[in-house]
Amino acid sequence: MKLALVGATGLVGREMLEVLTERQIKVDEFIPVASARSIGKKINYMGKAYTVVSMDEAINAKPDYALFSAGGSTSTEYAPRFAAVGTCVIDNSSAWRMDPDKKLVVPEVNGHILNGQEDIIANPNCSTIQLVVALKPLHEAYGIKRLVISTYQSFTGTGAKAVEQYEGERDGKATHSYESAYDHPIFENCLPHCDVFLDNDYTKEEMKLVHETRKIMNAPDIAITATAVRVPVHGGHSESVNIEFEKSFDIDTLKAILHNAPGIIVQDNVKDSIYPMPKFARKKDEVFVGRIRRDESIENGLNLWIVADNLRKGAATNAVQILEHLIH
Ligand code: A2P
Repeated sequence: MKLALVGATGLVGREMLEVLTERQIKVDEFIPVASARSIGKKINYMGKAYTVVSMDEAINAKPDYALFSAGGSTSTEYAPRFAAVGTCVIDNSSAWRMDPDKKLVVPEVNGHILNGQEDIIANPNCSTIQLVVALKPLHEAYGIKRLVISTYQSFTGTGAKAVEQYEGERDGKATHSYESAYDHPIFENCLPHCDVFLDNDYTKEEMKLVHETRKIMNAPDIAITATAVRVPVHGGHSESVNIEFEKSFDIDTLKAILHNAPGIIVQDNVKDSIYPMPKFARKKDEVFVGRIRRDESIENGLNLWIVADNLRKGAATNAVQILEHLIH
């Protein structure tokens, strides 16, 4: 198997390398790709050093699979060129997610739609992935009518530049010594602004939660509203999720459903202050769910707190799980 990793030097790319290694994904040829400034650098994979090459060189090598995490415009331009030489691209950017001809996949939720014939498969947005892993079993049991989502998203989701800004501010460095990823300070701050603003005054990140959730769950009629907030937190994204179900539920049965669902760890014992926290989600591949309680203000309402490592299940792990689904 020939595997290309596009964006191998980036935050998600490096996490993908780790996940591939942990899961012992064996390759005959490994092809790390990055921008022109990184060509020639060495990347280690399973004890062997590989040289970072250009996009064109990687396309010429005709890899069987390419994991892409190098930004939307790079994916828009290059994913079809890889597909044209027979490569199956698993793309972490937002470029292909809402294309009606491309599958948007979270293996625990809709892995069954993959048939091995795909040219480009889209990996969903980080905050959507952890959300749908928790929601899918509940939707099957009770039918979700409406969702109100508030996110608390790690700055690591913005990439290496945001980490530099956070560390620069934390360490009191001169502002000209690092590049800023955000319009405002992120250290000791919260930014109700993830990705760009759209014409409806929501951010693109908020609308990704709306559209991607409906597509992955094959549930176009769920009413969804979201507020996405960037927080100075390492380790993962957190989400406060309010759900209105079609059907009534028994809270103990609902907790048991979550407990038995794939990819979820329930951490919910408030007497002992046990609930999910991003600090302890780092490097974990599961989605953590807690603060499971009835919303007493409406009929059939529920509140959840959902946490996952945005670089792992929110990006690298999910992409590698898609790859595993295809090669096994
Ligand atoms: P490089 O490190 O050479 O800039 P992050 O999201 O952490 O900023 O990482 C982005 C990743 O995408 C990096 O590996 C970066 O490489 C890579 N990248 C950015 N632009 C391109 C491009 N035009 N072609 C290939 N790789 C790119």
